[in-house]
Amino acid sequence: MHIHKYEKIWLWSGAVCLTIFLLIVGVSAYAMGNQPPSHMETIDPKKAALTAPFDKPALTKIGDNEYEAVMLAQAFTFTPSKMTVPKGSTVHFKVTSTDVVHGFQIPATNVNMMITPGYVSKISHTFDKPGKYLILCNEYCGVGHQVMAVTLEVTS
Ligand code: CUA
Repeated sequence: MHIHKYEKIWLWSGAVCLTIFLLIVGVSAYAMGNQPPSHMETIDPKKAALTAPFDKPALTKIGDNEYEAVMLAQAFTFTPSKMTVPKGSTVHFKVTSTDVVHGFQIPATNVNMMITPGYVSKISHTFDKPGKYLILCNEYCGVGHQVMAVTLEVTS
């Protein structure tokens, strides 16, 4: 069977691209430990606001420069709405939704996850630079979606 030279180049470039892509994903997942930010913890979304620890959403100091932020996402706000940590703090976010799918993104950081009702989403981040960090919803969740944001302040 005769295959035209251009077709061979095209086939090979496709195969090479696919191999590079799979290598990047494989090294990232298995060697560098980049996993989806969610664990497999589940929760009844209708009772989430009454279930510990989400019945008392709060920022808690759990160690030297280490905090846990238990947060509830619901149309169209995050609770707690204000948090302050000192510079260099690592914050472990633990978030769930009581209604629909929300987003949880902190621009200029790697924090970006989907908050799916029924699941507890977790992500950690160390805040080395002082300033006001916006935590915003980046999944369209209804008429008030654009106002769904709170601030995390990192003091110097
Ligand atoms: Cu919550 Cu958009």
